[in-house]
Amino acid sequence: MAALVLPPECRVGRALLRLDCVDSTNAEVKRQAAQNAPDGLVVTARRQTAGRGRAGRSFHSPEGCGLYLSALLRPQLPPDAAAHITAWTAVAVCDAIFSVCGVRPQIKWINDLILNEKKLCGILTELLLRDGRPEGLVVGIGINVNHRPEDFPPELRATATSLSTELGHAVDMEELTRALIVALDRLYADFPAQKDDYLNRYRAQCLTVGRPVRLITPAQTREAIALDIDEDFRLLVELPDGTREAVGAGEASVRGRNGYL
Ligand code: BTN
Repeated sequence: MAALVLPPECRVGRALLRLDCVDSTNAEVKRQAAQNAPDGLVVTARRQTAGRGRAGRSFHSPEGCGLYLSALLRPQLPPDAAAHITAWTAVAVCDAIFSVCGVRPQIKWINDLILNEKKLCGILTELLLRDGRPEGLVVGIGINVNHRPEDFPPELRATATSLSTELGHAVDMEELTRALIVALDRLYADFPAQKDDYLNRYRAQCLTVGRPVRLITPAQTREAIALDIDEDFRLLVELPDGTREAVGAGEASVRGRNGYL
């Protein structure tokens, strides 16, 4: 694979591991972190055999179609850093896609990017622990880039799309990878001082706000209206009895009342 040329000041991607095939780029970053990999390490793969999504789901990762990338970040961690970084990453990925493709996806709270009402990208942030203490984050991003509809398994075809499908032409994977690393590097330099900027842009691009939603936990499913994103990137909802609640990432899975959105 040709070397990817990044701006010399980039901390994210200075150490770069590009693989043809791996179980999961998040898992590989964790293995590298256990061997004292440098801050900002990026791992990409053309294919994942065990790509991971949130809530224990798998992430379908066929060869050459998608951009599968994970980065090791060791920010000064406030307690909710993982949720914050996931939301910040959604904004950064939208920037990268816009800069290369000229289209700006929307954000389905908290970690899915949506284009024309279908899922384009997922983000999985995992906390790294050493001796029980947080020592960093793995930020994993999977973008559907050049999938044809038949590259998705049948059960995903109604809800998933790719950049090439929506744009009507193939997208240069290397250009997008470079733009994504540059956007992640900017995010890392901005974190946490530029929170207001990322929060405002997250709110502006979040399509969940204003919609009826279903809050799903193992114990129950509740109907609600999504009102806003609060200062901690939690989803502020109103329940049918008028009470309001802030839902954090990991507390509930959120679906549209009539389907995925
Ligand atoms: C989701 O949609 O629930 C999150 C999907 C995250 C997928 C990416 S692909 C690169 C990285 N490696 C993984 O195993 N998962 C993330």
